[in-house]
Amino acid sequence: MEPLSAVIQRMMKDNPVLAKRMSDVRESLASNPIEIMTIPSDECPYKKCDGKGWLWIKDWSRLGKKDEEDENGKLLRAEWMEQCKCYEQLVKQREVDKKLDLSGIPPIFSDATVRSYDVNRYRSANSQGIATMAKKAAGNYVNNYEAMKKHGKGLYLYSKVKGSGKTRLASSIANALVKTYGIDIAFIKSGDLIAQVYKTMNKKSETTRSDIIETFRKVELLVIDDLAIKDSTEYEEGIFYDITDYRLEHKKPTIFTSNVTIDELEKVYPGGRVNKRINKMAMEIYMPEESIRDDEADSENAELEKLLFR
Ligand SMILES: Nc1ncnc2c1ncn2[C@@H]1O[C@H](COP(=O)(O)OP(=O)(O)O)[C@@H](O)[C@H]1O
Ligand SMILES: [Mg+2]
Ligand SMILES: [Zn+2]
Repeated sequence: MEPLSAVIQRMMKDNPVLAKRMSDVRESLASNPIEIMTIPSDECPYKKCDGKGWLWIKDWSRLGKKDEEDENGKLLRAEWMEQCKCYEQLVKQREVDKKLDLSGIPPIFSDATVRSYDVNRYRSANSQGIATMAKKAAGNYVNNYEAMKKHGKGLYLYSKVKGSGKTRLASSIANALVKTYGIDIAFIKSGDLIAQVYKTMNKKSETTRSDIIETFRKVELLVIDDLAIKDSTEYEEGIFYDITDYRLEHKKPTIFTSNVTIDELEKVYPGGRVNKRINKMAMEIYMPEESIRDDEADSENAELEKLLFR
Protein backbone atom coordinates (compact mmCIF):
# COMPACT_ATOMS: atom_id res chain seq x y z
CA MET A 1 0.00 0.00 0.00
CA GLU A 2 1.16 3.50 -0.79
CA PRO A 3 2.30 5.36 2.39
CA LEU A 4 0.14 8.31 3.51
CA SER A 5 2.93 10.85 3.05
CA ALA A 6 3.29 9.83 -0.57
CA VAL A 7 -0.46 10.22 -1.10
CA ILE A 8 -0.36 13.73 0.38
CA GLN A 9 2.65 14.69 -1.72
CA ARG A 10 0.94 13.54 -4.88
CA MET A 11 -2.26 15.40 -3.94
CA MET A 12 -0.33 18.62 -3.38
CA LYS A 13 1.46 18.31 -6.68
CA ASP A 14 -1.89 17.95 -8.44
CA ASN A 15 -3.48 20.75 -6.43
CA PRO A 16 -1.40 23.92 -6.08
CA VAL A 17 -4.12 25.73 -4.08
CA LEU A 18 -4.09 22.98 -1.46
CA ALA A 19 -0.30 23.00 -1.46
CA LYS A 20 -0.25 26.77 -0.85
CA ARG A 21 -2.70 26.45 1.99
CA MET A 22 -0.76 23.63 3.64
CA SER A 23 2.44 25.62 3.50
CA ASP A 24 0.67 28.70 4.92
CA VAL A 25 -0.58 26.60 7.82
CA ARG A 26 2.88 25.14 8.36
CA GLU A 27 4.43 28.59 8.31
CA SER A 28 1.96 30.08 10.73
CA LEU A 29 2.37 27.11 13.06
CA ALA A 30 6.15 27.50 12.88
CA SER A 31 5.99 31.20 13.77
CA ASN A 32 3.24 30.70 16.36
CA PRO A 33 3.12 27.05 17.33
CA ILE A 34 1.16 27.49 20.58
CA GLU A 35 -2.57 27.12 20.11
CA ILE A 36 -5.46 27.24 22.59
CA MET A 37 -7.60 24.24 21.73
CA THR A 38 -10.44 24.97 24.20
CA ILE A 39 -13.40 26.44 22.39
CA PRO A 40 -14.23 29.81 23.96
CA SER A 41 -17.72 30.41 25.30
CA ASP A 42 -19.72 33.35 26.61
CA GLU A 43 -19.75 31.59 29.98
CA CYS A 44 -16.16 32.73 30.50
CA PRO A 45 -16.13 36.43 31.48
CA TYR A 46 -13.01 36.85 29.30
CA LYS A 47 -14.44 34.68 26.50
CA LYS A 48 -11.23 32.64 26.59
CA CYS A 49 -12.19 29.27 28.01
CA ASP A 50 -15.35 27.17 27.83
CA GLY A 51 -16.50 28.55 31.16
CA LYS A 52 -14.93 25.81 33.29
CA GLY A 53 -11.77 27.81 34.07
CA TRP A 54 -9.22 25.68 32.19
CA LEU A 55 -7.45 26.05 28.84
CA TRP A 56 -6.20 23.11 26.80
CA ILE A 57 -3.03 24.25 25.07
CA LYS A 58 -1.03 22.61 22.28
CA ASP A 59 2.49 23.34 21.10
CA TRP A 60 2.50 22.19 17.47
CA SER A 61 6.27 22.51 17.26
CA ARG A 62 6.53 19.61 19.70
CA LEU A 63 4.04 17.37 17.97
CA GLY A 64 5.24 13.76 18.15
CA LYS A 65 8.21 14.70 20.36
CA LYS A 66 8.70 13.30 23.84
CA ASP A 67 8.41 15.62 26.89
CA GLU A 68 11.84 16.91 27.88
CA GLU A 69 13.46 19.58 30.00
CA ASP A 70 15.24 22.54 28.45
CA GLU A 71 18.57 23.87 29.78
CA ASN A 72 16.72 25.80 32.54
CA GLY A 73 14.92 22.69 33.70
CA LYS A 74 11.62 23.88 32.21
CA LEU A 75 9.43 21.03 31.06
CA LEU A 76 8.66 21.16 27.35
CA ARG A 77 5.48 19.40 26.38
CA ALA A 78 3.31 19.01 23.33
CA GLU A 79 0.12 19.82 25.26
CA TRP A 80 -1.03 20.81 28.72
CA MET A 81 -3.84 22.42 30.74
CA GLU A 82 -3.57 25.97 32.02
CA GLN A 83 -5.80 28.02 34.34
CA CYS A 84 -7.85 30.65 32.55
CA LYS A 85 -7.94 34.19 33.95
CA CYS A 86 -11.47 33.45 35.13
CA TYR A 87 -10.41 30.45 37.23
CA GLU A 88 -10.02 32.23 40.56
CA GLN A 89 -13.33 34.03 40.20
CA LEU A 90 -14.88 30.69 39.43
CA VAL A 91 -13.44 29.10 42.57
CA LYS A 92 -14.72 32.02 44.64
CA GLN A 93 -18.12 31.71 42.99
CA ARG A 94 -18.22 28.00 43.83
CA GLU A 95 -17.32 28.73 47.45
CA VAL A 96 -20.11 31.31 47.64
CA ASP A 97 -22.58 28.86 46.09
CA LYS A 98 -21.57 26.21 48.60
CA LYS A 99 -21.92 28.61 51.51
CA LEU A 100 -25.37 29.64 50.27
CA ASP A 101 -26.30 25.97 49.90
CA LEU A 102 -25.30 25.20 53.46
CA SER A 103 -26.70 28.41 54.94
CA GLY A 104 -30.26 27.27 55.52
CA ILE A 105 -31.67 30.33 53.73
CA PRO A 106 -35.17 29.24 52.60
CA PRO A 107 -34.86 27.94 49.03
CA ILE A 108 -37.79 30.10 47.85
CA PHE A 109 -35.69 33.12 48.77
CA SER A 110 -32.39 31.91 47.36
CA ASP A 111 -32.55 34.55 44.63
CA ALA A 112 -34.07 37.32 46.74
CA THR A 113 -32.00 40.50 46.72
CA VAL A 114 -32.37 43.75 48.61
CA ARG A 115 -32.67 45.54 45.29
CA SER A 116 -35.63 43.40 44.18
CA TYR A 117 -37.47 44.03 47.45
CA ASP A 118 -40.39 45.90 45.98
CA VAL A 119 -41.85 48.64 48.18
CA ASN A 120 -44.72 49.11 45.71
CA ARG A 121 -46.07 45.68 46.59
CA TYR A 122 -47.60 47.22 49.70
CA ARG A 123 -50.90 48.98 49.10
CA SER A 124 -51.03 51.73 51.70
CA ALA A 125 -48.78 54.76 51.42
CA ASN A 126 -47.88 54.29 55.07
CA SER A 127 -46.66 50.73 54.42
CA GLN A 128 -44.69 51.89 51.42
CA GLY A 129 -42.99 54.53 53.56
CA ILE A 130 -42.05 52.00 56.23
CA ALA A 131 -40.88 49.53 53.58
CA THR A 132 -38.70 52.21 51.98
CA MET A 133 -36.98 52.84 55.31
CA ALA A 134 -36.51 49.12 55.94
CA LYS A 135 -35.09 48.60 52.48
CA LYS A 136 -32.66 51.48 52.93
CA ALA A 137 -31.54 50.13 56.31
CA ALA A 138 -31.03 46.67 54.82
CA GLY A 139 -28.88 48.03 52.00
CA ASN A 140 -26.87 50.19 54.37
CA TYR A 141 -26.37 47.26 56.71
CA VAL A 142 -24.84 45.23 53.90
CA ASN A 143 -22.67 48.10 52.67
CA ASN A 144 -21.42 48.88 56.18
CA TYR A 145 -21.11 45.30 57.36
CA GLU A 146 -17.46 45.69 58.40
CA ALA A 147 -18.40 48.45 60.85
CA MET A 148 -21.49 46.56 62.02
CA LYS A 149 -19.39 43.47 62.60
CA LYS A 150 -16.80 45.39 64.58
CA HIS A 151 -19.54 46.33 67.02
CA GLY A 152 -21.26 42.97 66.78
CA LYS A 153 -24.46 44.72 65.65
CA GLY A 154 -27.28 42.87 64.01
CA LEU A 155 -30.83 43.69 63.00
CA TYR A 156 -34.25 42.93 64.40
CA LEU A 157 -36.95 42.94 61.73
CA TYR A 158 -40.30 43.36 63.37
CA SER A 159 -43.92 43.47 62.31
CA LYS A 160 -46.97 41.89 63.89
CA VAL A 161 -48.51 40.89 60.59
CA LYS A 162 -47.59 37.64 58.87
CA GLY A 163 -46.61 37.82 55.23
CA SER A 164 -45.27 41.35 55.37
CA GLY A 165 -41.84 40.39 54.06
CA LYS A 166 -39.67 39.88 57.16
CA THR A 167 -38.28 36.50 56.15
CA ARG A 168 -37.78 37.68 52.60
CA LEU A 169 -35.84 40.79 53.61
CA ALA A 170 -33.73 38.85 56.14
CA SER A 171 -32.95 36.31 53.38
CA SER A 172 -31.93 39.06 50.95
CA ILE A 173 -29.56 40.55 53.51
CA ALA A 174 -28.07 37.11 54.18
CA ASN A 175 -27.67 36.43 50.43
CA ALA A 176 -25.93 39.77 49.95
CA LEU A 177 -23.55 39.24 52.86
CA VAL A 178 -22.46 35.83 51.59
CA LYS A 179 -22.03 37.11 48.05
CA THR A 180 -20.21 40.30 49.01
CA TYR A 181 -18.04 39.16 51.89
CA GLY A 182 -18.00 35.36 51.53
CA ILE A 183 -18.98 34.92 55.17
CA ASP A 184 -20.43 31.79 56.77
CA ILE A 185 -24.08 32.05 57.65
CA ALA A 186 -26.59 29.96 59.50
CA PHE A 187 -30.24 30.78 58.85
CA ILE A 188 -32.70 28.97 61.07
CA LYS A 189 -36.27 29.27 62.28
CA SER A 190 -36.36 29.57 66.05
CA GLY A 191 -38.71 26.57 66.24
CA ASP A 192 -36.28 24.44 64.23
CA LEU A 193 -33.42 25.45 66.48
CA ILE A 194 -35.36 24.31 69.53
CA ALA A 195 -36.35 21.11 67.74
CA GLN A 196 -32.70 20.38 66.96
CA VAL A 197 -31.84 20.61 70.64
CA TYR A 198 -34.77 18.41 71.66
CA LYS A 199 -33.68 15.81 69.16
CA THR A 200 -30.37 15.43 70.98
CA MET A 201 -32.30 14.11 73.99
CA ASN A 202 -32.94 10.94 72.04
CA LYS A 203 -30.60 8.29 73.46
CA LYS A 204 -29.50 7.33 69.96
CA SER A 205 -28.51 10.88 69.07
CA GLU A 206 -24.83 11.39 68.42
CA THR A 207 -24.99 15.16 68.85
CA THR A 208 -25.49 16.84 72.20
CA ARG A 209 -27.23 20.02 73.29
CA SER A 210 -23.89 21.75 73.52
CA ASP A 211 -22.93 20.70 69.96
CA ILE A 212 -25.99 22.53 68.67
CA ILE A 213 -25.48 25.54 70.91
CA GLU A 214 -21.82 25.69 69.88
CA THR A 215 -22.70 25.75 66.17
CA PHE A 216 -25.05 28.71 66.55
CA ARG A 217 -22.73 30.50 68.96
CA LYS A 218 -19.74 30.33 66.66
CA VAL A 219 -21.14 30.90 63.16
CA GLU A 220 -20.06 34.25 61.77
CA LEU A 221 -23.56 35.51 61.06
CA LEU A 222 -26.68 33.93 62.52
CA VAL A 223 -30.20 34.62 61.31
CA ILE A 224 -32.98 33.53 63.66
CA ASP A 225 -36.29 33.66 61.85
CA ASP A 226 -39.56 33.98 63.77
CA LEU A 227 -38.09 34.55 67.20
CA ALA A 228 -40.69 34.24 69.96
CA ILE A 229 -43.34 32.99 67.57
CA LYS A 230 -44.90 31.10 70.48
CA ASP A 231 -44.68 30.92 74.25
CA SER A 232 -41.48 29.52 75.55
CA THR A 233 -40.51 27.22 78.38
CA GLU A 234 -37.69 28.06 80.75
CA TYR A 235 -35.58 25.40 79.10
CA GLU A 236 -36.10 26.91 75.66
CA GLU A 237 -35.38 30.36 76.98
CA GLY A 238 -32.08 28.96 78.26
CA ILE A 239 -31.15 27.84 74.74
CA PHE A 240 -31.63 31.33 73.30
CA TYR A 241 -29.89 32.86 76.30
CA ASP A 242 -26.83 30.63 75.86
CA ILE A 243 -26.57 31.53 72.18
CA THR A 244 -27.31 35.25 72.35
CA ASP A 245 -25.18 35.81 75.46
CA TYR A 246 -22.13 34.28 73.76
CA ARG A 247 -22.72 36.20 70.55
CA LEU A 248 -23.10 39.47 72.42
CA GLU A 249 -19.90 38.84 74.39
CA HIS A 250 -17.97 37.93 71.23
CA LYS A 251 -19.45 40.67 69.07
CA LYS A 252 -20.95 38.29 66.56
CA PRO A 253 -23.80 39.84 64.56
CA THR A 254 -27.24 38.23 64.60
CA ILE A 255 -30.28 39.08 62.54
CA PHE A 256 -33.71 38.33 63.97
CA THR A 257 -37.19 38.43 62.55
CA SER A 258 -40.13 38.48 64.91
CA ASN A 259 -43.75 39.43 65.30
CA VAL A 260 -43.15 40.88 68.75
CA THR A 261 -41.01 43.94 69.51
CA ILE A 262 -37.77 43.63 71.49
CA ASP A 263 -39.58 45.17 74.48
CA GLU A 264 -42.36 42.61 74.23
CA LEU A 265 -39.86 39.73 74.24
CA GLU A 266 -40.00 39.83 78.01
CA LYS A 267 -43.51 38.40 77.88
CA VAL A 268 -42.26 35.39 75.93
CA TYR A 269 -38.96 34.99 77.78
CA PRO A 270 -39.91 36.03 81.32
CA GLY A 271 -36.39 35.53 82.65
CA GLY A 272 -35.76 38.96 81.15
CA ARG A 273 -32.25 38.08 80.12
CA VAL A 274 -32.88 37.32 76.43
CA ASN A 275 -34.49 40.68 75.59
CA LYS A 276 -31.74 42.61 77.40
CA ARG A 277 -29.09 40.86 75.30
CA ILE A 278 -30.98 41.36 72.06
CA ASN A 279 -31.59 45.00 72.85
CA LYS A 280 -27.82 45.47 72.89
CA MET A 281 -26.96 43.34 69.90
CA ALA A 282 -29.56 44.30 67.31
CA MET A 283 -31.12 47.43 65.86
CA GLU A 284 -34.87 47.29 65.51
CA ILE A 285 -36.32 47.79 62.04
CA TYR A 286 -40.05 48.14 61.63
CA MET A 287 -41.65 46.34 58.73
CA PRO A 288 -45.04 47.28 57.25
CA GLU A 289 -48.13 45.97 59.03
CA GLU A 290 -49.52 44.70 55.75
CA SER A 291 -49.50 41.23 54.30
CA ILE A 292 -48.64 40.83 50.67
CA ARG A 293 -48.90 37.09 50.88
CA ASP A 294 -52.62 37.07 49.98
CA ASP A 295 -52.00 39.45 47.18
CA GLU A 296 -49.40 37.14 45.81
CA ALA A 297 -51.61 34.06 46.08
CA ASP A 298 -54.40 35.94 44.29
CA SER A 299 -52.25 36.96 41.38
CA GLU A 300 -50.68 33.49 41.18
CA ASN A 301 -54.13 31.90 41.05
CA ALA A 302 -55.23 34.38 38.41
CA GLU A 303 -52.25 33.42 36.29
CA LEU A 304 -52.94 29.68 36.65
CA GLU A 305 -56.66 30.14 36.01
CA LYS A 306 -55.74 31.73 32.71
CA LEU A 307 -53.92 28.51 31.84
CA LEU A 308 -56.85 26.33 32.92
CA PHE A 309 -59.68 28.18 31.21
CA ARG A 310 -58.14 29.58 28.10
N1 LIG B 1 -41.18 43.72 49.20
C1 LIG B 1 -41.41 42.55 48.62
N2 LIG B 1 -41.21 42.41 47.30
C2 LIG B 1 -41.55 41.27 46.72
N3 LIG B 1 -42.10 40.21 47.35
C3 LIG B 1 -42.29 40.29 48.67
C4 LIG B 1 -41.92 41.45 49.36
N4 LIG B 1 -42.19 41.26 50.66
C5 LIG B 1 -42.72 40.04 50.78
N5 LIG B 1 -42.79 39.44 49.59
C6 LIG B 1 -43.41 38.15 49.37
O1 LIG B 1 -44.48 38.02 50.30
C7 LIG B 1 -44.51 36.75 50.87
C8 LIG B 1 -44.44 36.83 52.39
O2 LIG B 1 -43.20 37.32 52.80
P1 LIG B 1 -42.46 36.75 54.10
O3 LIG B 1 -41.09 37.30 54.07
O4 LIG B 1 -42.59 35.28 54.20
O5 LIG B 1 -43.30 37.44 55.27
P2 LIG B 1 -43.12 37.32 56.85
O6 LIG B 1 -41.82 36.67 57.14
O7 LIG B 1 -43.20 38.72 57.35
O8 LIG B 1 -44.29 36.50 57.35
C9 LIG B 1 -43.36 35.99 50.26
O9 LIG B 1 -43.86 35.14 49.27
C10 LIG B 1 -42.46 37.04 49.67
O10 LIG B 1 -41.84 36.59 48.49
MG1 LIG C 1 -41.52 34.85 58.14
ZN1 LIG D 1 -12.28 31.47 31.43
